[in-house]
Amino acid sequence: MALLQSLVLLLFLYICAADPLGEFCNKDSNVSGNGMISANIDNLLAELVAETAKTGYIATSYGKDQDKVFGLAQCRGDVDSKDCASCIQDAAKQIRQRCVNQADARIWYDYCFLRYNTENFVGKVDTSFGIFYYNVENVTDPKSFNKELGALMDEIRSQAVVPKNEGLGKGETTLSPFVTLYALVQCTRDLSQIDCAQCLAIAVGNFPNFCNNKKGCRVLYSSCYVRYELYPFFFPLDSKNALADTSIKVVVSP
Ligand SMILES: *[C@@H]1O[C@H](CO)[C@@H](O)[C@H](O)[C@H]1NC(C)=O
Ligand SMILES: *[C@@H]1O[C@H](CO)[C@@H](O)[C@H](O)[C@H]1NC(C)=O
Repeated sequence: MALLQSLVLLLFLYICAADPLGEFCNKDSNVSGNGMISANIDNLLAELVAETAKTGYIATSYGKDQDKVFGLAQCRGDVDSKDCASCIQDAAKQIRQRCVNQADARIWYDYCFLRYNTENFVGKVDTSFGIFYYNVENVTDPKSFNKELGALMDEIRSQAVVPKNEGLGKGETTLSPFVTLYALVQCTRDLSQIDCAQCLAIAVGNFPNFCNNKKGCRVLYSSCYVRYELYPFFFPLDSKNALADTSIKVVVSP
């Protein structure tokens, strides 16, 4: 019985590790032509996997002329290089299985993000496609919660646009002796400070639509990631208040 339970748990962990939070396979961007693009995507992915393992980020391209493919991969800045490397490996594998024929493909995990496109997207803010995850539970005191959340978001958004922070901002606020609010924001590192600020402003501006009074929420865009929870989720992990939750996913297409 115990063996069966651990097998089930292992299987569960395995599925979780490989399963993304979401992907976007742009149906208006089918790969056509002589097969060069498809080969270039494979070569690009190999480079993204190899390079991201070193510094947690790469934006590059592979191929020539009309067959050129642009790619970007980035891990969350608080994630260690081992988790980063395995996340990008999963992402590279899954994106090819899920977006078989698309020239514009993107995949999101909590620890990393990866995308490629035959059009050059590097350095451009993109909030056209979004994935939202929100906790089904509501906070008990929305007014004071939203005030504290707003203040924490302002603080970590200003961290994210400081160049040495490489797009990352994170922090926590004690709401009561037993409740702590944790939040993290991150922009892709190809963005300028102004574009990073813009992406985060759009994400936080969408809180009333998808995250309203929720105990936790995540906004996943191609250019930035925003998340808050009433339990620790970023590294170094705070040992108190560890909790799981039930989240619902909403996809917003262009
Ligand atoms: C791309 O391919 C899909 C599936 O074959 C098809 O439904 C879609 O219309 C195609 N899109 C374009 C722009 O050709
Ligand atoms: C949370 O609040 C919303 C809006 O007031 C309500 O529709 C929903 O049922 C609440 N959820 C729970 C779990 O109480």
